[in-house]
Amino acid sequence: MMLGAAPLLAISVNAVLAIAATTARGSQASCAHFSPRDIPGVSLTAATYFPANARVDITNIFSSINASDLPAFCRVELVVVTNATAGSFANTEVWLPDDWNGRIVTIGNGGFGGGVTVSDLGGIAVPQGFAGVSTNTGHNSTAVDGSWAGPHNDNAIVDWGWRAVHLSVLAGKAITEQYYRQAIHRSYYIGCSTGGRQGLKEIQMFPESFDGIVIGSPANWMTHLQPWSIHMNLNVLPPTSSHFMTQNMWVNVIGPEVMRQCDTLDGLKDGIINDPRACSFRPETLTCRPGQNTSTCLTADQISALHRIYADYYEADQTYIFGGYYPGGEDAFPEGLVGSPPFALPADWFRFFLLNDTQWTMEDYNATDIVLGDEINPGQSNAIDPNLTAFAAAPHNGKVLHYVGWADQLISPGNSLHYYETVHEFTLGNSTLDIDDFYRLFLVPGMNHWCVLPAHPWRGGNAANAFGGVSQPRPLSLDPQHNVLAAMVRWVEDGIAPSTITGVKYHGDNPASGVAFTRPLCKYPSTVRFKGGNPDSADSFDCA
Ligand SMILES: *[C@@H]1O[C@H](CO)[C@@H](O)[C@H](O)[C@H]1NC(C)=O
Ligand SMILES: *[C@@H]1O[C@H](CO)[C@@H](O)[C@H](O)[C@H]1NC(C)=O
Ligand SMILES: *[C@@H]1O[C@H](CO)[C@@H](O)[C@H](O)[C@H]1NC(C)=O
Ligand SMILES: *[C@@H]1O[C@H](CO)[C@@H](O)[C@H](O)[C@H]1NC(C)=O
Ligand SMILES: *[C@@H]1O[C@H](CO)[C@@H](O)[C@H](O)[C@H]1NC(C)=O
Ligand SMILES: *[C@@H]1O[C@H](CO)[C@@H](O)[C@H](O)[C@H]1NC(C)=O
Ligand SMILES: *[C@@H]1O[C@H](CO)[C@@H](O)[C@H](O)[C@H]1NC(C)=O
Ligand SMILES: *[C@@H]1O[C@H](CO)[C@@H](O)[C@H](O)[C@H]1NC(C)=O
Repeated sequence: MMLGAAPLLAISVNAVLAIAATTARGSQASCAHFSPRDIPGVSLTAATYFPANARVDITNIFSSINASDLPAFCRVELVVVTNATAGSFANTEVWLPDDWNGRIVTIGNGGFGGGVTVSDLGGIAVPQGFAGVSTNTGHNSTAVDGSWAGPHNDNAIVDWGWRAVHLSVLAGKAITEQYYRQAIHRSYYIGCSTGGRQGLKEIQMFPESFDGIVIGSPANWMTHLQPWSIHMNLNVLPPTSSHFMTQNMWVNVIGPEVMRQCDTLDGLKDGIINDPRACSFRPETLTCRPGQNTSTCLTADQISALHRIYADYYEADQTYIFGGYYPGGEDAFPEGLVGSPPFALPADWFRFFLLNDTQWTMEDYNATDIVLGDEINPGQSNAIDPNLTAFAAAPHNGKVLHYVGWADQLISPGNSLHYYETVHEFTLGNSTLDIDDFYRLFLVPGMNHWCVLPAHPWRGGNAANAFGGVSQPRPLSLDPQHNVLAAMVRWVEDGIAPSTITGVKYHGDNPASGVAFTRPLCKYPSTVRFKGGNPDSADSFDCA
């Protein structure tokens, strides 16, 4: 393992340690006296000790936590200089549990946010014994606000694109090794949405940073995702147009018809479409009859809009831009996305990252913007390099575990399939590696964009949506079968690759309310299949 930012550390960073009782510990005293030295561009602003079960009540503009069930840890707050000339910096935190497992995990962000992900430092890293690292990516903002990027705030855009995460990984490693006075055994990453993009970006640029990354629904193709989002909005907006569909129609008219046509194809009527590629949804069945109440049926314009929405997006010259919606999840349809008001984030990207035109509105969108976006690639934030050889090949042997909901309407799951397939093709054509040895993709039937924003409808969907990913309800168990981070650790450290993960759905998505059902998540390209038996039990399914 290489530690680029910590050349002055006295300890050997090459040592691979046995993780046993010898693993170093933290304590109240080590936290109180912690004084890191010789880490260029990194300064400590606070080190705060939280005893076991202390109240941890921390809020920033992007993320918050309010828990009293964490093990003891030391919260280290850092300023990480990202460009000394410009005076730009990121705020980064490293949470260091007393009972350290010898590993480090970096946690990603979401959207344009804009704050240390304290929810998952406390929800994932510390309870599982990892030293946890997370950064505000160089600015403070909510997930949907991109106004900080303009006008021409180049350093902030690059920091968000990749630089703040990278420098924070280096700082986090150096801090962790100084704190415990011991080399880190292994380095991991977990994130979803923008967090998925950040993990991919880091392994594409700096293959040594992580031994394994867990990524959910990555926003890794920014220059196509943002045009696609505008395209989807224009397909249905404005609300006064003949092709607009209200949330009531999505939930009560279109959603039930999708289920009627698609749900039972997999042998089980359960409101979950196991493989939406198997269903070609025909909205024509909802065509309005003369005199029918138009809130309960579709006009010809609405039907054409639906055909555009459920199709992949191609430009006029047949250039592939992005995947479409897949049938399923309409009952949790986010009015803010293809609705009124439109989802704000994409327009901010055009205004503040790409065009530098604060007056721009989505009606100004045209296909030239896609070409311009690919040329400029603001902040170099695209993470679409299909060549993962340096990360995946020996001696590094890095691993990628990727998941996405089939009912993700914020970032089409088609994007995940597309990236996986480009890596697959590249790997076949240009290396002796087998993608299955380093990159596995899991599709989650029925799950929406369950990534970052608590209590948001994008997190909806009737799905086994808890399996240890960021901002999910806690998994049924922390073991590798139920918890993606543990599955990754076992893959990296014991060579046992995950072939299925068992997800759980809680009643009301609240673990305290009990288990509704469990389901296997299957490794792409296999899909989950009902064998018979109790449909609420994962044992009644296999992957085929
Ligand atoms: C955190 O939870 C405690 C206990 O329920 C409560 O007193 C406190 O107000 C909460 N903090 C916030 C910011 O909501
Ligand atoms: C740092 O910021 C300065 C001033 O904005 C800029 O000229 C320079 O290109 C930046 N350097 C890097 C490496 O981003
Ligand atoms: C972000 O917020 C922190 C904490 O309030 C502040 O110290 C820092 O200056 C802010 N960062 C930027 C880039 O404004
Ligand atoms: C908008 O500003 C950004 C940041 O300075 C720059 O990278 C980009 O090229 C500009 N866009 C155009 C269309 O000039
Ligand atoms: C049409 O259907 C909608 C939704 O079911 C209902 O709210 C509305 O009252 C109906 N309008 C008429 C004229 O029946
Ligand atoms: C397309 O949009 C860009 C940016 O808004 C604008 O500069 C350009 O003139 C538009 N092109 C056409 C053909 O409308
Ligand atoms: C893929 O990346 C590796 C490592 O960076 C490089 O050596 C190799 O040339 C690349 N392969 C191709 C076909 O570009
Ligand atoms: C192999 O690598 C070259 C150079 O990067 C690239 O142009 C080509 O498309 C790759 N082959 C496949 C099958 O992806």
